[in-house]
Amino acid sequence: MFKWKKEYETGITIIDEQHKELFKIGNESYDLLRNDLILDKYDKVVAILNKLLDYCEYHFSTEEEYLLNIGYKKFLSHKVQHDDFIKKIKKADIERIDHNQDGYLMEVLEFFMEWISGHILATDMDYVKYQRSLA
Ligand SMILES: [Fe+2]
Repeated sequence: MFKWKKEYETGITIIDEQHKELFKIGNESYDLLRNDLILDKYDKVVAILNKLLDYCEYHFSTEEEYLLNIGYKKFLSHKVQHDDFIKKIKKADIERIDHNQDGYLMEVLEFFMEWISGHILATDMDYVKYQRSLA
């Protein structure tokens, strides 16, 4: 399970809500993968991982719009991180994996969620500092 922590909070409502939603979808995916009672869960897991990726792209565009609005100086390098991450996840090509590759799907999911948490703590918190300095 991927636990939401207080330190992930940016204090910016829309961003926090979206970050929490990413954790929610990540955990739905995790629960499904760990549930041995569900047979033929492959399609469901792939669908939910795709939902996670879609939501992540949606979230990045919201965040980028916000960063442009506040005149964040490191906008471009932040956006490069988002773009590189999406590219990397797409390369994992979750739809082409053979059936019953739970281990691989779990690896993709863990990579995804670890990246998100690390990105929030290191990179997102930098614009939070910037935004607070404007107040
Ligand atoms: Fe970000």
